[in-house]
Amino acid sequence: MADPQGFAVLTDDQCVGIAEMDSTHDEFLVLYAQARDADKASFATCLKALHDHTRDHFAFEEKLMNESGFPATSEHTSEHQRVLGELARFLERAQAGSQIMARAWLQQQVPEWFRSHLLSMDSALAAHLKKSEDPQYVRLRV
Ligand SMILES: [Fe+2]
Ligand SMILES: [Fe+2]
Repeated sequence: MADPQGFAVLTDDQCVGIAEMDSTHDEFLVLYAQARDADKASFATCLKALHDHTRDHFAFEEKLMNESGFPATSEHTSEHQRVLGELARFLERAQAGSQIMARAWLQQQVPEWFRSHLLSMDSALAAHLKKSEDPQYVRLRV
């Protein structure tokens, strides 16, 4: 997808090699760009879609971590809770009619957070899953 601000496509170095994680991250970027570029009337609806997707995205990774015995589960889960909490607070403000803080957060904080989270915590989870010979994780390998 063309994106004038260069942040709606998962680059090769951001693919972690676990199919459902990569497709979820791709979807995140699409919803992110829709919220970032939304007009005033549709901003809260787009931010709600990003929030709900992110809640499910994080829950899916936490399920993978818990079921596979990932060693850094609590650190990774805490980071998810922190970011989902921020997103929920900005969504509440946007739904109450105040968009400025939410738009600034989306533009200034989220891209760097997403890149560094992918390259650190999500990549570590993917590497852990790729080492497993359990068929349920082998089938997720790209
Ligand atoms: Fe993720
Ligand atoms: Fe994550």
